[in-house]
Amino acid sequence: MTKVGIDAVEIHTGKLKMDLAEVFAPEMGDDPEKYTKGLGLHASSFPDVYEDIVTMGANAAYKLMERKGLTPEDIGRIDVATESAFDNSKPVSTYIAGCLEQVYDGDFHHANKGERKFACVAGTQSIDDAYNWIRAGRHRGRAALVIATDTALYARGDPGEATQGAGAVAMLISEDPSLVTLSTEQGFGSADETDFLKPNQQFPSVDGKRSVQVYLARMREALEDYESVAGKVELDDVNLAPFHTPFPGMVRKAALLGFRHIIRDTDVEDELEPEIGRQPREAEFDSEENYTEAIRAYMDDLKRTDAYQEWYANTVDPTLYLARHVGNWYTGSVHVARVSGLIKAYEAGEDMTGEQLLVGSYGSGAQAEVHSEIVQEGWKEEIEAIDILDHLDDRYEISFDDYEHIHDVHNHEKDVDVEEFTVPQSEFVFDGWGRMDERKYRFVE
Ligand code: HMG
Repeated sequence: MTKVGIDAVEIHTGKLKMDLAEVFAPEMGDDPEKYTKGLGLHASSFPDVYEDIVTMGANAAYKLMERKGLTPEDIGRIDVATESAFDNSKPVSTYIAGCLEQVYDGDFHHANKGERKFACVAGTQSIDDAYNWIRAGRHRGRAALVIATDTALYARGDPGEATQGAGAVAMLISEDPSLVTLSTEQGFGSADETDFLKPNQQFPSVDGKRSVQVYLARMREALEDYESVAGKVELDDVNLAPFHTPFPGMVRKAALLGFRHIIRDTDVEDELEPEIGRQPREAEFDSEENYTEAIRAYMDDLKRTDAYQEWYANTVDPTLYLARHVGNWYTGSVHVARVSGLIKAYEAGEDMTGEQLLVGSYGSGAQAEVHSEIVQEGWKEEIEAIDILDHLDDRYEISFDDYEHIHDVHNHEKDVDVEEFTVPQSEFVFDGWGRMDERKYRFVE
């Protein structure tokens, strides 16, 4: 069977940075460690005045096409995943294709374009669509461009404000990919939930505490569903576990639950028994309350074991590095986590070829998806070429006053005039409004 997966990735971060411990926490009257230790976040990325979901997506896609030496004729599909769209009819992919056509001789007139919506899981769903399109043999030898782009802003004063971020991830999905192949097996955990939604409004209505519980419940369901088709997940088989990362503290919770699930009825549970006992089994308890209490105590002990801490440090922590410095990018977040883990593996000099990733995507509303990926021979060259770390360093650091202004600039209800903080160069920028209220873009040399 032909291998299908991710051939290459490029990441574009919003060009502004707010330090959460030094700038945001004092204004909120919070202990900085609530951010750096509790949520696990150090900074958020924001778009400059001339950036938005189209420019960030187009800039990531342009970089990808240039690096891979592609022309529009090589692309048969452009799918954009976003939950920050500003148009209920015309998809963001058409705006992005229009941008790219400004700099290429050819055009994307024969590429199928669309926009996927299911909160943060839509990026992974767009990859699915591309995978199925290639597997069905409808691609005529061409590749798909999947772009996950979001400006993840919350209303001022919402607890979610601490987890904001903005950026885009462009991915090339193709046959015989250089980076990772995707498993045919997938697991889903999906239910009608009301934890985070935007009923025709820009900023989300969020029940933050509940959203954390829904994430964990749906992810567990998806993992069990995945195991029902792929077989039991073994600790030693998984090298990295990139998960949707609204903030690293969320993944810390999911990882502990996942570890408990994976080690149940295995030698690892037996080996840990003298230290922390066996996992409580529901059937052994006379009430749900007693069972929940016992599980909580077991998890507290499990968290402190060397076995868990070592697994977490090797398998999960490397995937969180980038998220700590950019915040939540919604649809792009799990794809940032994959790159983060592979960058750390590259820096550590590991040979990842043939290694397996267990990938957990999640979108509020709610749906989790779990699948696995196998790292391909070309991974080193692909990861080496991604210059996101330099771009993070190049961001312009904003003060709290600047933050208040930039939040207003990107608030669709407000019309404010704010000077650009950075100077655009070799990139697409927002260029005002057209006669039908469409947003216009141009390439700045
Ligand atoms: P909060 O209520 O302000 O924070 O907001 P908190 O009081 O729960 O504190 C956060 C953590 O910091 C806690 O850790 C505290 O203990 C700790 P935990 O106990 O949970 O492990 N903490 C400290 N640690 C060290 N030193 C200190 C200190 N103080 C506190 N001094 C909340 C938290 C998540 C509710 C908020 O950020 C929020 O509403 N976020 C938005 C919703 C969200 O991100 N949900 C995640 C799951 S849903 C999801 O992922 C989907 C999403 O991406 C959208 C989509 O799919 O489209 C959001």
